[in-house]
Amino acid sequence: MTTPIGIHDLAFATGSRVLDLSVIAVRLGTEIEKYTIGIGQERMSIPAADEDIVTMGAAAAKQIIDRHGAEGIRTVLFATETGIDQSKAAGVYVHQLLELPTTCRVVELKQACYSATAALQFATALVVCDPRQRVLVIASDVARYELGSSGEPTQGAGAVAMLVAADPDLVVIEPGSGVFTSDIMDFWRPNGRVTALVDGKYSIRAYLQAVENAWNDYSAQGGFPISEFNRFCYHQPFTKMASKAHRHLIKTAGGDLDPAVLDAQIAPTLKYNRVIGNTYTASIYLALLSLLDSDEELDETKIGFLSYGSGSVAEFFAGTVQPGYRKHLRSEENRSVLAARVPIDASEYLTWHERRDPTELGDFALPNETPGPFRLAGFTDLKRDYAVTQ
Ligand code: CAA
Repeated sequence: MTTPIGIHDLAFATGSRVLDLSVIAVRLGTEIEKYTIGIGQERMSIPAADEDIVTMGAAAAKQIIDRHGAEGIRTVLFATETGIDQSKAAGVYVHQLLELPTTCRVVELKQACYSATAALQFATALVVCDPRQRVLVIASDVARYELGSSGEPTQGAGAVAMLVAADPDLVVIEPGSGVFTSDIMDFWRPNGRVTALVDGKYSIRAYLQAVENAWNDYSAQGGFPISEFNRFCYHQPFTKMASKAHRHLIKTAGGDLDPAVLDAQIAPTLKYNRVIGNTYTASIYLALLSLLDSDEELDETKIGFLSYGSGSVAEFFAGTVQPGYRKHLRSEENRSVLAARVPIDASEYLTWHERRDPTELGDFALPNETPGPFRLAGFTDLKRDYAVTQ
């Protein structure tokens, strides 16, 4: 029998500020129901001035290292769309902040919102080769669109960290997956831009097409029949997208299209993303965390995962929740982190939106704002200075 491999621990962090979408609705003269019902979003996390993908990723990963130590971690995979440097991997800063062993490889992965799934699959393959090793996977992003664009209500910020190991406490990643790639321009961010460009309606059609193709490949590879899955986690740029994708998957795969059944299969996965917003690479694993933290009893539940990254790459794969998983959750702490975010008003939101990293050599200090364990203290000659706060 082969050793089961999967997600041994899963933790998250998010921006410490929060914007209610009513602020955007008022500014744009839009009915709030378009957001709360039409796209299924209520609030979005916003990073404080001294928070970024590194501080959020490190804050998520710290919870894992505090609990399990760093022993056996020889690889850190950092997945992001919001890279902070064209050359250096953001994970190298996290490696230093967490004081991980030098006997470690660190690399960054990019493919829009998909790359955390590539990282998870590469991590499981590394553990197959050597089951004594554990791999730290981090997905961290800040989603930013132009003011007034269709994407503006679908911004957000957050990170997840996963410890991938043999005999995992939470979710076994089942072997086999369905994959799909197609060179399209539905969402992209040319070098030098902090806001993404998107063809909104086209991106929805492209996502649905990718769902269909990834599932068809999964079936052709001999994957589980659709009837074996009880719950489904999707990439959630906005939570209504998961509903659209799920309906399309079940139609494609020939499952039960009763709306109450469809709703029950995804409803617990939507709670965190609805109040955090789009977190690009992290969003599908925030969906998993939302599901695990829900009141449902999930021992042995088979979960279908559909990961989509514009541009585009998609993957369908299966996971099985492990008996006793509940003992290893941080559900109360997670809910407290969300509740503790500081609400910001319209003018603070606009200030955040204008924020840019410096582009000229010089010293640049940032205000001390974050309640998190790490902060971006500033820049010296275009070098990022990170600090431990606690
Ligand atoms: N009450 C209730 N519902 C309302 C409403 C109201 N007053 N007003 C509008 N709605 C509904 C609409 O009927 C529509 O519902 P359906 O999609 O079910 O038809 C929904 O609200 C949205 O309305 P519009 O289509 O008119 O909205 P829009 O065109 O302004 O923006 C969007 C929608 C294109 C998704 C936009 O949010 C966007 O561009 N988002 C960014 C791109 C994105 O997230 N794409 C998803 C796939 S790509 C991906 O997943 C990668 C990634 O992370 C970006």
